[in-house]
Amino acid sequence: TTDSSTSTDDLPESSGSSKLPAQIARETARRRTFGIISHPDAGKTTLTEKLLLFSGAIQMAGTVKARKSARHATSDWMEIEKQRGISVASSVMQFEFREHVINLLDTPGHQDFSEDTYRVLTAVDSALMVIDAAKGVETQTIKLLDVCRMRHTPIVTFMNKMDRETRDPLELLDEVESVLKIQCAPVTWPIGMGKNFRGVYHLLRDEVMLFAAGSERADQEFEIIKGIDNPRLQEMFPLEMDQLRMEVELVHGASHPFDLEQFLAGVQTPVFFGSAINNFGVREILSALVDWAPAPKGRDATVRVVEPTEPKFSGFVFKIQANMDPAHRDRIAFLRVCSGRFERGMKIKHLRLGREVKISSVVTFMASSREQVEEAYAGDIIGLPNHGNMQIGDSFSEGELLTFTGIPFFAPELFRVVRIRNPLKIKQLHKGLQQLGEEGAVQVFKPVLGSDLILGAVGVLQFEVVASRLMNEYGVDAIFETASISSARWVSSDDKKALADFENQLGHNVAHDAAGNLAYLATSSVNLRLTEERWPKLTFHATREHA
Ligand code: G4P
Repeated sequence: TTDSSTSTDDLPESSGSSKLPAQIARETARRRTFGIISHPDAGKTTLTEKLLLFSGAIQMAGTVKARKSARHATSDWMEIEKQRGISVASSVMQFEFREHVINLLDTPGHQDFSEDTYRVLTAVDSALMVIDAAKGVETQTIKLLDVCRMRHTPIVTFMNKMDRETRDPLELLDEVESVLKIQCAPVTWPIGMGKNFRGVYHLLRDEVMLFAAGSERADQEFEIIKGIDNPRLQEMFPLEMDQLRMEVELVHGASHPFDLEQFLAGVQTPVFFGSAINNFGVREILSALVDWAPAPKGRDATVRVVEPTEPKFSGFVFKIQANMDPAHRDRIAFLRVCSGRFERGMKIKHLRLGREVKISSVVTFMASSREQVEEAYAGDIIGLPNHGNMQIGDSFSEGELLTFTGIPFFAPELFRVVRIRNPLKIKQLHKGLQQLGEEGAVQVFKPVLGSDLILGAVGVLQFEVVASRLMNEYGVDAIFETASISSARWVSSDDKKALADFENQLGHNVAHDAAGNLAYLATSSVNLRLTEERWPKLTFHATREHA
C-alpha cells in the first residue's frame, strides 16, 4: 500500500526563529478533515461512535447514539430546539489517531437540511461514504456525492451491515460505479454475509480478518489469518473459501486496483466492507483516512490560492448555529482554518466588514464537550461567538484582502409569504429573519415592490423551525402563507441598465436576498423560461456563491 501522509519525522526540528513555519508545516501535515455522507439509517451515527471509540475520545459505546435518540425521540420541533446544544456539540468532533489530528464533520442526514449539509462539505478535505449494503445506493447519497464531485473530494466507501442479508457485493460495486459515477477499488472483500458472515479478505495485504459479533470495545482485536490459501481457512469455512477465491478472481479481473492518485483526484473510491455496529472494519477505515486521505490543501480565494502552510492565518465561515448553549443564547460561527496558525486572543480581520476583531473566546469541538481553543491549524474547525454580524461564507485573515470562493447557496424550491398577527412586532420580525437568513436557516427575499417578505427553503421542515424560532427567540407570532412562486434564480449582468430595467419592470417578482443579492422569483417553470428568453443580457443562476 501507498502512504500519502507526509511523515512527521521528515520535517525539520523546530528551532529559534524558524520555529513557526516548521511547526505549521508539521501540524498541517498531520491533519485530516473529513465528513461522513450517507442516506439516513445507513449507520452514520453508529460508525461515528465507533470511530471515536477507537481514538479513545469516548470510552463507552452509546454516547453518540444517546445524543441521536435524544434528538429524534420526538418530532416536536420545540423539543428539538432544547436539544440543539447537544446535537451541535457533536456536529464537529476532533480526536487523535496514530499521531494524526482528525476533524470529523457531521453532515445532517435529513433531506430538509441538505443545504446546510452541502456547505459543510465545502469545509472538508475528504469524505467517508457509508452505504447500507442491504439497500445499496440511496437518494440522499446521490445528492451528497454530486456536491463532493464539484470539488473533486476524495471519497472512502464503507459498505455497512454485512452481518445482515445484503445485496451481492459485486452488484453493489457495479451500482456505485454506474449510479454515482465513481470507480470502485475494493480494498477488503466480504466472506459471506448475514448469519454466514465470516469476515473480510484484505486484497492488498492478502490476509483474512475473522468476524466476531458484538464488539463494544475499542481495543477489540479480530483474529487475522495470513494468505487466502491458508489451510486453516479452508478447514474452517470450506464452502465460503471456495466462493471467496472465485469472487476474488472476478474482482481482480473486473475491478480497478487501488490507485492513490485516482483516489486523490476524486475519480476512484477505495471500498471497505464491514459492520459498524460490531466495530468490524472500522479500524481499516481510520487507517485509510490517515494513510491515504489528503492533508489540508491550497484553497481558492478571489485573488490567489492560499496554501495551508503559509505563516499567516486565514479561514472562512461555513456554518452558523444559534443557541448552541440554551443558557447563553449565543450564536456560533463555524470557521475552517485555511492557513497559518490561530491563537486565542489573536486579532483577525473580518474581511466583508473590513473590521478587525479580537478573538478572545473561541470554542473547539471535542468529542465529549466544547472546549476552549488555544491554537488551531489548517483543517481545524473553530467556533467564533457571533454577535450577529457574521454570515456564511465570510472570510477572515490577518489583514490580506481575500475572499474564499466555492461556498454555495442553492436556489430554494419552496416558498412562503410571511405575515404577522401583531403589526407592532414588525421590527422584531425583520431582525429575526435577517439573522435566520444569515445563519442559512432559511433564505429571505424582500421584493423590490410591496411590503411582503418571502421565505425560501429547500425542505419544508425549515419553515417549521423558523416559525418556532421566531416565536421563541424574537417573540414573533408569524403566519406563513403559500406563495405563488415556484422557483428562484439569482440574477447578474455586466449591463447595469438592463438590470435596472429588469427591477423596474418586474419589481413584484424581483427581490433582494439577506445578503443583498438580486433574485428573480418565478411563478412557474414556463414563466422562468420566458423571462430568461426576454432578458438575454441577464444571467440566471440556480446557485450563488457568497458575495
Ligand atoms: P444513521 O445515523 O445513518 O441514521 O444510522 P444509525 O447509525 O442510527 O443506524 C441505523 C440503524 O442501523 C440502527 O438501528 C443501527 O443500530 C443499525 N446499524 C448500524 N450499523 C449496523 C450494522 O453494522 N449491522 C446491523 N445489523 N445494524 C446496524 P435501529 O434499529 O434504527 O436503532 P437501534 O435501536 O439499534 O439503536
